[in-house]
Amino acid sequence: MPSIELEDVYKIFGDEPEIALKLLKEGKGKDKIQAETGQVVGVRGISFTIEDNELFVIMGLSGSGKSTLLRCVNRLVEPTSGKIVLHADGTDYDVVNADSETLRQIRETQMSMVFQNFALFPHRTVIDNVAFGLEIQEVNKKERVRKAKELIEVVGLEGFGDSYPNQLSGGMQQRVGLARGLATGAEILLMDEPFSALDPLIKVQMQDELLDLMEEMQRTILFVTHDLDEALKLGDRITIMEAGKMVQLGNPEQIIVNPKTEYVADFVENADPSDVLRSETVATTSFEPDENNRVRLTESAEVELDSKGRPVQGYFSQTPIEIRSLDELSELNEDVILSTGPDTPISKIMRARLTYATTPVIIVRDGVMIGFVTERNILHGLLEKGREDL
Ligand SMILES: Nc1ncnc2c1ncn2[C@@H]1O[C@H](COP(=O)(O)OP(=O)(O)OP(=O)(O)O)[C@@H](O)[C@H]1O
Ligand SMILES: [Mg+2]
Repeated sequence: MPSIELEDVYKIFGDEPEIALKLLKEGKGKDKIQAETGQVVGVRGISFTIEDNELFVIMGLSGSGKSTLLRCVNRLVEPTSGKIVLHADGTDYDVVNADSETLRQIRETQMSMVFQNFALFPHRTVIDNVAFGLEIQEVNKKERVRKAKELIEVVGLEGFGDSYPNQLSGGMQQRVGLARGLATGAEILLMDEPFSALDPLIKVQMQDELLDLMEEMQRTILFVTHDLDEALKLGDRITIMEAGKMVQLGNPEQIIVNPKTEYVADFVENADPSDVLRSETVATTSFEPDENNRVRLTESAEVELDSKGRPVQGYFSQTPIEIRSLDELSELNEDVILSTGPDTPISKIMRARLTYATTPVIIVRDGVMIGFVTERNILHGLLEKGREDL
């Protein structure tokens, strides 16, 4: 199972990278260095590990170094310094120092790439474009065509196998690019803004397909985007780049709740946090049971705990009501106390509240109540993104 380790990776574009590196060490910024020396800082000091079966997102404004960083990983861009190690098939490949034969092998069998601008071969049909990686691997024609057809179907292009790229819309070409990336069977996919040319509806569809693929095919994906909603939806973790530097690395919730710099805060300001914020983050977590071991949740709703803090009985205006798991919702619209785990997205709680309007939701970890979510908690989460200091 593959993983990729990056350590202190730099890329300077220009013929005097040492000068730029020295100025960077002295604390000079990208713009200044470019103005003084003509050297362009692509990326600087990048370290992280992409774990097996992780979808790792690189995000940032145009020119921040996303494509450069992605391309360092398969050395379409030669890193100026730093270490990149690919762990795959029980082998540790030193990517930066790999000879051309090893590099070729890595590119053909371990990592495939989906390009920002599709990069299809204009004189090849869709099938032959998709099958290209297999052709290089010298897979026989029958098998190539079978596999290509299968993936053309996966990306929703059945019937277009014999078309040429210029007969397809931009979005369709992007799908061909995706199918080509998947066809080689490489476990690592490097994807550079693969969906940016798509209409919003189709984009969402492709994102969902990618997430399904992750489940089915167990890929490890490095994914570049400048679209925050896409990053939040897809990313297990997200790193945010600014002027070649990594300014933050975290899971979607951490990025939303705790943006480390102004730049990140500007990015997340208009994001919809409802799918990202977890129940525990927005919950009221300090509460005291009364002498009857009951915790007051609202004016009229209470929950009774046993001696270990486990919820045993709900009450609404002193009348006993059931505690029911939010995951087992039915259409019955009776008063119940809902219960859910600490990692439930608040969007799911909001949907449940449409059915069960009256009571708050208690948050339970390992059977023990750790907090509860009221309307107010949800509003605070949505408007202030769960941030304490606002
Ligand atoms: N081949 C190159 N030669 C010189 N400079 C380059 C080269 N490729 C990229 N750069 C510079 O490196 C920096 C990072 O570019 P990069 O293409 O990685 O940005 P990006 O984040 O992918 O942007 P976009 O969102 O527009 O694709 C920019 O300042 C760019 O001008
Ligand atoms: Mg780019």
